[in-house]
Amino acid sequence: MRPEHQTYERHRALVFDSGVGGLSVVGEIRNRLPDLALDYVADDAFRPYGEKSEAELTGRLPGLLATLAEMTSPDCIVIACNTASVTALEVIRAEIDIPVIGVVPAIKPAAAWSRTGTIGVLGTPGTVRRKYVGGLIQHFAGDCQVVLQGSVNLVEMAERKLAGESIDLNDIRREIAPLFEGREGADIDAVVLACTHFPLLREDLQRAARQTVRWIDSGAAIAKRVDVILNSIEKQKRTVRADTAFLIGPVAETNRKAAFQSFGFDQIVGLVPG
Ligand code: DGL
Repeated sequence: MRPEHQTYERHRALVFDSGVGGLSVVGEIRNRLPDLALDYVADDAFRPYGEKSEAELTGRLPGLLATLAEMTSPDCIVIACNTASVTALEVIRAEIDIPVIGVVPAIKPAAAWSRTGTIGVLGTPGTVRRKYVGGLIQHFAGDCQVVLQGSVNLVEMAERKLAGESIDLNDIRREIAPLFEGREGADIDAVVLACTHFPLLREDLQRAARQTVRWIDSGAAIAKRVDVILNSIEKQKRTVRADTAFLIGPVAETNRKAAFQSFGFDQIVGLVPG
């Protein structure tokens, strides 16, 4: 039998982000569920999401995700992007009839862990000003001081790092310095990495920070959620095919090929935007 005609019973999930950020979530999913087949979509053509308006994101994402779901037939979708999730999760879910898991800032665990009662939230400019995040803070960090910091430059630094370029710590320092300013800043002992790109810079962030803090992201919790959801879905007979990373936009972006391969995506395919 030719390999393309072989079938096997396996779950398949689709992980979506504006760029390479979702790979930080893929890492956690691969650790927990090594047998899960994965596809990945990077919406390079529309990045950075952190600078887009709510109307732009809610206008684009439901239709795009519905098309991608049809194209890749996953059992569930992971929106591995805080900006997209806190802005458009409900409208995406309304468009799609399989489970859609959103990645939202890990404010609850950070507030529970903090000894000083002062935490930072480092996300994109869009994420830190969304109502959804205000709600999380009110709900789970009501007795904490919360310092918000938005940065879109860190997103592009993570992209460049995974394309093999070196990152200047001074550039990172400039982006995070406002977080640690003043008395409140000095009290911060936990920082929520509220953008999936940022765990890819974890060591760089720690080296650039003026104090030692715990950097908390949502990746492991999302992998656990995917596990629970898939447990309730029957496995389908599927044709064997490579785990594929689809890049929306110019395929010249494949200077990140090695990064996608190191997260288990053996095939990289360009998609024409629109
Ligand atoms: N990785 C995304 C997030 O978690 C967004 C990055 C961007 O495109 O601004 O927010």
